[in-house]
Amino acid sequence: MPPLTHSGVPRHVAIIMDGNGRWAGRRGLPRTLGHRKGVESVRRIVRHAGNRGVGVLTLYAFSRENWNRPKAEVSELMGLLQRYIRSDLEELVEQGVRVQVIGGRHDLNSTLLGMIENAEARTAHNDRMHLVLAFNYGGRDEIVRAARRAAEAVARGELAVEALDEARFAGFLDTGTLPDPDLVIRTSGEQRISNFLLWQSAYAEYSFPDALWPDFDEAMFDEALRDFAGRERRFGTVPPVTSVST
Ligand code: FPP
Repeated sequence: MPPLTHSGVPRHVAIIMDGNGRWAGRRGLPRTLGHRKGVESVRRIVRHAGNRGVGVLTLYAFSRENWNRPKAEVSELMGLLQRYIRSDLEELVEQGVRVQVIGGRHDLNSTLLGMIENAEARTAHNDRMHLVLAFNYGGRDEIVRAARRAAEAVARGELAVEALDEARFAGFLDTGTLPDPDLVIRTSGEQRISNFLLWQSAYAEYSFPDALWPDFDEAMFDEALRDFAGRERRFGTVPPVTSVST
């Protein structure tokens, strides 16, 4: 499958939305207000990525490690996803956005779970852009859950061990048949991948803009796309010979 859409826009952009806490701290505000402000950036970037022709946008909204934050912050982040779905679902439906949540579901409360399932069902047939929210997500956890699913398929006699190759294994991941991310953006200047899409990002390009997530805007997103368009992706091969000297 070609990694780019026809226009050179990455088919799949994944974002680690970092810097909400610092954004709030610099203004003497509680961290929770930084996360609230971060939802405004989510809205902006979802609309804009759709307009730019991005096929899949994945946003890292809550990591498994985030459970270790203060209780009030954890419950704010849980509440924000509920409020986002409640307030934005109709617009996402109208925009033709398909919503999918990846990550472990067992730890989520039943109200949130119901809202996630409803959002996924309501948007299941949308195809303008696929919005993937990584929530209670960890890359290693996803790989372990995929390994369990593969082992269960073997145990049921539905999969021969020899038939398990990279493509079949990828199908057991939460991302299933989605294309791998071409571009991973992490805001706030930090340069870490923090357990995000470990399997899927094997050949991704990375971009580390300095802006804190609440300040990240359409122009900065476009800048990352322009930078991406100028990179030479080789996927482990050698560059093509462009001229022959005699
Ligand atoms: C990292 O910033 C950000 C998070 C842990 C949460 C991201 C969540 C949102 C942007 C809002 C919720 C999203 C949706 C889709 C409703 P940080 O808190 O680690 O910032 P810091 O490194 O400056 O402390």
